[in-house]
Amino acid sequence: MKKGIQVAIDGPASAGKSTVAKLVAKRFQYVYCDTGAMYRVVTLAALNQGLDLTDTVRVSRLAQAIKISFAPGEPEQRVFLDGQDVTTAIRQGRIDQNVSAVAAIPAVREEMTRQQRQIAEEGGIVMDGRDIGSTVLPNAPVKIFMVASAHERARRRYVENQEKGIATASLEELQREIELRDQKDSSRKVSPLVQAPDALRLDTTSLTIEEVVDRISAIVKKTLNELA
Ligand code: CDP
Ligand code: CDP
Repeated sequence: MKKGIQVAIDGPASAGKSTVAKLVAKRFQYVYCDTGAMYRVVTLAALNQGLDLTDTVRVSRLAQAIKISFAPGEPEQRVFLDGQDVTTAIRQGRIDQNVSAVAAIPAVREEMTRQQRQIAEEGGIVMDGRDIGSTVLPNAPVKIFMVASAHERARRRYVENQEKGIATASLEELQREIELRDQKDSSRKVSPLVQAPDALRLDTTSLTIEEVVDRISAIVKKTLNELA
């Protein structure tokens, strides 16, 4: 018997993708893959090596050379760069500000997409990002496009930073940063942030995490029944 289906969750920054994806994965005992974390790791590695991020050849080579891995952890999954735990380091402001530039490099995307397809190959996976339903897993039977107002998304990120003890910009600055990143992610040439035609749009602005998890879980259950 197959291990389960592929569930693709896309949307702009802080729409609640990773929080919800993690909980849906737990409910179905699926693997969770945070593709944003993978682009963040490449960005961290490039900054650590002092690379000029406009040097797309060297950044792409680095993306192919490093080893990105995940391990289960509470309260959050751990992320590793060449065996070193970088779970907290990839959430710094300097990564937020530079990740969209790295994610716009075609060869970096090609490499991340290849690795993501490998991770999702066997099914039983919830993968979140920007281009999962549109490019990485175009045949995923469940595709969600999660949105929320920019104001609400900035508020969520602000609270999250405070809770995690991550140095945070003001609410206004965070909203500007989020809007700028959305604009960069939506306007890039390769695999931009876009709703796949067959994805279901879910506005989470006034929904609790639990409500969103329940809605997506119901869709996954319905799809599993239809496919059975
Ligand atoms: O958590 P947050 O929404 O801030 O972002 P993330 O999911 O960690 O993704 C960080 C950045 O990686 C995004 O702003 C995109 O530039 C890039 N990304 C991407 O291009 N494609 C993906 N599938 C996932 C993330
Ligand atoms: O992965 P993405 O950037 O889309 O968002 P996230 O990191 O999952 O969510 C950002 C913050 O919003 C987290 O601290 C969540 O707890 C919070 N959140 C919320 O308050 N209400 C929701 N419906 C979803 C997320």
